[in-house]
Amino acid sequence: MCGIFGIVTDQSQALGPILIEAARRLTYRGYDSVGAATISGSKIDLRKDVGRVDEVAAKYNLAEMTGSRGITQLRWATFGEPSQVNAQPHLDSDGDLVGAHNGNVVNNVELRQQFMAEGMTVRSHNDGESCVHATERYINQGYDFVEAIRKAHGDLQGDYAYVIGRIDDDRLYAIKKGSGLVVGIGEGFTCVSSDLPSILPLTRTILRLQDGEIVTLWAGRVELHSVKDGSLIQREPEVVTETMEAVQKGGYAHFMLKEMHEQPQVAREVLHMLAGSPEVGVVLDKIARARHVYLIGCGTSYHACLAGSVYFAQMAGIAAIPVVAPQFVSQYLPAVNEQDVGLFVSQSGETKDVLSALQAAEASGMTCYGLANVIGSTLTRATACWLPLCCGYEISVPATKTFTNQVVAFLYLAQRLAGGDGKQLEELPELMEQTLSLTAGPMQALAAEINGWNDLYSLGFGATYPMALEGALKLKEITYAHCEGMLSTEFKHGPLSAVTKGFPVLFAAGAQDVPQIVSGINEVTCRGGRAIVIGQDDPRLRANASDMILIPEADPLVSSLLAVIPLQLLAYHMSVGRGYDPDFPRNLSKTLTVD
Ligand code: AGP
Repeated sequence: MCGIFGIVTDQSQALGPILIEAARRLTYRGYDSVGAATISGSKIDLRKDVGRVDEVAAKYNLAEMTGSRGITQLRWATFGEPSQVNAQPHLDSDGDLVGAHNGNVVNNVELRQQFMAEGMTVRSHNDGESCVHATERYINQGYDFVEAIRKAHGDLQGDYAYVIGRIDDDRLYAIKKGSGLVVGIGEGFTCVSSDLPSILPLTRTILRLQDGEIVTLWAGRVELHSVKDGSLIQREPEVVTETMEAVQKGGYAHFMLKEMHEQPQVAREVLHMLAGSPEVGVVLDKIARARHVYLIGCGTSYHACLAGSVYFAQMAGIAAIPVVAPQFVSQYLPAVNEQDVGLFVSQSGETKDVLSALQAAEASGMTCYGLANVIGSTLTRATACWLPLCCGYEISVPATKTFTNQVVAFLYLAQRLAGGDGKQLEELPELMEQTLSLTAGPMQALAAEINGWNDLYSLGFGATYPMALEGALKLKEITYAHCEGMLSTEFKHGPLSAVTKGFPVLFAAGAQDVPQIVSGINEVTCRGGRAIVIGQDDPRLRANASDMILIPEADPLVSSLLAVIPLQLLAYHMSVGRGYDPDFPRNLSKTLTVD
């Protein structure tokens, strides 16, 4: 989740401090590299490197940078390793254009080949550089800047936004396609950024760009054009009145709610990243040839491993063993050798239980890969190869978007192992959006109705079993109620005795498992319990459930992932209804670096 910021001022001045502050305010999105460029007359000053904002700012003295136009970018590596050359902004071939992007250009590899064949100087592997060269291509053909960006838009596939400027000009230009972009208008300057927190300290007068719009920024005014036909767009600026904290929460009451609503977008980003990642091939090849495959994590990340093992088996015929990290050492270690592969899964990449298992696994010769959200974490540094989750920072202690992206990554790997190209998952983000809007209201209402209960069960079967466990964990974590997650068919082997009138039992029902689930539902309802069923519309479920929470029609394995979204929403609303802060539940820490 990179971040970009650009500013145009009415006179040459010290832009370094403004760019550093803007970069600091974008750090919450997550990053591994930092860069800044200023333009002054016919000179571009470009400084960038891998590292934290304050480190790079100190090392390259960003504070001394001057000019009348400036760009800063925080990079979260997807195309090309974190390195100085891949850090952004990027220059064009002659060094008279400079630009930076946010998002993913999915045809980056092909475009780089084209640019090189056309004689352009391509310096990095980063897709931000492709945005600059795509614009350069049409500037060189004589198009004016806005027209060149329109033409470049036709070449650049994916979701992105970029900001770009050239020497001997008084403007910056930016385009939005899929990634966020906001314009700020102040006294003697205008600016543009991926997000509001970097703009609000400068001005509260803003314009929100929509997809398919190009903005030209002068110091005293801005102009919007449509990518489609080049026409001028009229839009009145708005004044932001919310506090900075409210803005950082994106208008949501809590980070957890914001992060749940980010799930479709980050799913898009991880799918783009996986489609373009050379590491994926390495991991898949090794998994396909392994004697045993272990999927290792704790808490929520373990639930993702469980889902991964279902997908690997059902889609690719590969039996992968899901293990809670400490149990890997105590149970499996004597059985592993160098023919085995372990995929270590962790949001933070710092969980001690996971790192201890990794250390033991490596000592036994096993090939160890990582799936992590925090780039630069110990897990990403300690594994032979790792894949990023592309979620940006997850601030709320309960994991939500990192869980769904772990599961999306497993679905993608399973499809590739089965011989597919992962394209079957393209509709998933849209299905997640539909699930959020379909279930938000019903789950809020349900939370109010069942919030008096301090005992609940969350049941699933097959591919929905990991989702039921994850839903139960979310409920326990932020409502402090007891909620047990269980295989639905196990319920009758004991817990059924707890059912009394109105006792809430949640069922995540996969379309292919309806017969087994229906029996479980009836065992609850015939004893007076309340069977709350999450699933696709099915007359057999409707006829037997006490409550039916509908999720969109989808392939059964994909819809198993969708089922966790209403469970997250239920936990959130129950927590808020109890007067708790779901973002910071008592006794818990986001990163568990202890045994
Ligand atoms: C998730 O909501 C929890 N906060 C917790 O179970 C978490 O998943 C677990 O501690 C593992 O963390 P990790 O993914 O950072 O390794």
